[in-house]
Formats: sequence, C-alpha cells, structure tokens
Amino acid sequence: MAGAEHVFPEIADMLSEDDSRRIRSIQEERWVSYPRAVTILRKLERLLEYPQRSRMPCLLIVGRSGMGKTMLLERFGRQNNPAWEQENDREHTPVLSVVIRPQPTVRRFYGQILFALKAPTTSTAASGIIEDRVYHLLRALGTRMLIVDEVHNVFTATRSSDRDAMMALLRTLTGELKISLVCAGTSEAENALLGDEQLASRYEPLTLQAWQPSTEFQGLVGSALRSMPLRQPSELNPLAIRHLVDISQGVTARIFRVLADLAEEAILSGAERINSGAVLDLPLAPRAAAA
Ligand SMILES: Nc1ncnc2c1ncn2[C@@H]1O[C@H](COP(=O)(O)OP(=O)(O)O)[C@@H](O)[C@H]1O
Ligand SMILES: [Mg+2]
Repeated sequence: MAGAEHVFPEIADMLSEDDSRRIRSIQEERWVSYPRAVTILRKLERLLEYPQRSRMPCLLIVGRSGMGKTMLLERFGRQNNPAWEQENDREHTPVLSVVIRPQPTVRRFYGQILFALKAPTTSTAASGIIEDRVYHLLRALGTRMLIVDEVHNVFTATRSSDRDAMMALLRTLTGELKISLVCAGTSEAENALLGDEQLASRYEPLTLQAWQPSTEFQGLVGSALRSMPLRQPSELNPLAIRHLVDISQGVTARIFRVLADLAEEAILSGAERINSGAVLDLPLAPRAAAA
C-alpha cells in the first residue's frame, strides 16, 4: 500500500481496515523491540547454548513492575521452545517457565513445575516423591533452562523457614540438574538473591531501568508508533517525549498504555496521527498511582 512508510511493513495492510478493526489491533499486545531487550534476548540465547557443566550460570532480570520483564521472557520462550504454546509435547521442553505466587512453599513450587509440564499432580504424595518426579521429568524432557518469574515472591514468604527452603531449592536446582535459572523480579529480589553469597556468584543481574528522555527512549516511542495502524505519520517533539517520561514515570507499561489511548482517540477523531500537543495535554499522574 502506498503512503505506508510510517508504519512497519506488517502493519501496512491494516491501514485500509475500518476503525473498529484498527482500534482492536491497537489494543492487542504486540512486541516492540528496543536495544536493551535485544541485548537481554541475546544473552538468554547464549545461555541456552551454554555447555552443561556443574556450575551453570544464571541470570536475574531486574525491574519495577510493568517494565516488561514477563513480556521479554515470553518472547524468548516462544522463540526457543517448540512446545511453548502447544499441548502435550512431552518429548522436548528446553525452556520451562513458572511464575512464583505470593507466599510460595517448595511443595507449591514443585506443583507448579509439574503443572507447567502438564504432568499429573497429586496433592497427597509425599514431598520426596514429588521432588523425584520433578527431577526425573526435567531430565527426561531435556530442560536446559528454567525461567522463574516474580521471584521476589520468594522473599516475601511470611515464614522464614519457607523462604530458606526456597533459597536452598534455587541453589540446588541448577547444581543437580545442570540447568540455568533465569529469574525475573523487582529490586527486592536482587537485594535478597545477591545478598546470598552462593547465589550472588552465580547470578548476573540485568536491569531494565525506568526510561529517561534519551535517544533509546525516542527509538522505543518511534517503534511503538510504527506498530500502530494510524494513517498519518505521528511525530513527537523533545518536549512531548520528556512529558511522556514524566507522566509514565518511565514505566514501559504506562508508556504503551498512554500511546495506545492516544492512537485510539486519533482514529475516533479522524486526526489519524498523534501530535505533541495531545501528549503535552495529558496531566501528570499523582506519584503514588499504580500502573
Ligand atoms: N517490548 C514490549 N512491547 C510492547 N509492549 C510492551 C513491551 N514491554 C512491555 N510492554 C507493555 O507493558 C506491559 C507490562 O509488561 P510486563 O512484561 O508484564 O512487565 P513486568 O513483567 O516487568 O511487570 C505489557 O503488558 C505491555 O503492554
Ligand atoms: Mg511480570
């Protein structure tokens, strides 16, 4: 389609769609790449190719809620795991992902691994039997990397005995199975994990910093705008870019939310583009507001 240079090629066809379809497309979650994400994805890929050895290196992705940790890990999982979204591929699961819920126990954690492997879980089995099962399955399925999202929840467990047991588990899982752990969580997780001497030597922290008005941030906004099916090119001046950082407090989720809302308005109003004025009109949110 002519006049579609301002959007990514895969979006061009969508420009001729009606308003409601285009609005729906804006609301869908679409991956937008940025240099820091590319760097971390490459690191993850290299880690997955790492030869098995007794001390597997591990990564800790650190960032505030809404910075994009989960989306990044899902992108990696989808790219590297043939069975990521398929039912019952029981042969090969190189990358397995679990989310730690608040107040975890070792038993619940094992239960989640079994669930993620679509293996039957029995709530009455003795802990040792569950553990054997988990180890056996992870070996049999060739799991080389375990992604542990929301890892900060380990450190908010109310009972310190649970917390210690979970920490011990994180230490032994990689050692015994020779799999790399990739944890993601907030700075509380970083402080706790890196405060543990044994874990600190194994984990490399990779931080997703809150966005600042930088060329990288301009790049992110540019890519976000190019992924939206607006018929006219949008352009934001430096003042608008700075204001976008201020109203979002640099949190990725809020930046995308604001841009999506503005894009929707631009379709409904017929303006078909986001201009700096529209961004500058947005009020600063109170400091305490959540994403
Ligand atoms: N790379 C990205 N591309 C597009 N949207 C993103 C990206 N990263 C984050 N987002 C937006 O931010 C939201 C929060 O991201 P998420 O990965 O859940 O953050 P976290 O796990 O760090 O709390 C996502 O639902 C999405 O709307
Ligand atoms: Mg998350």
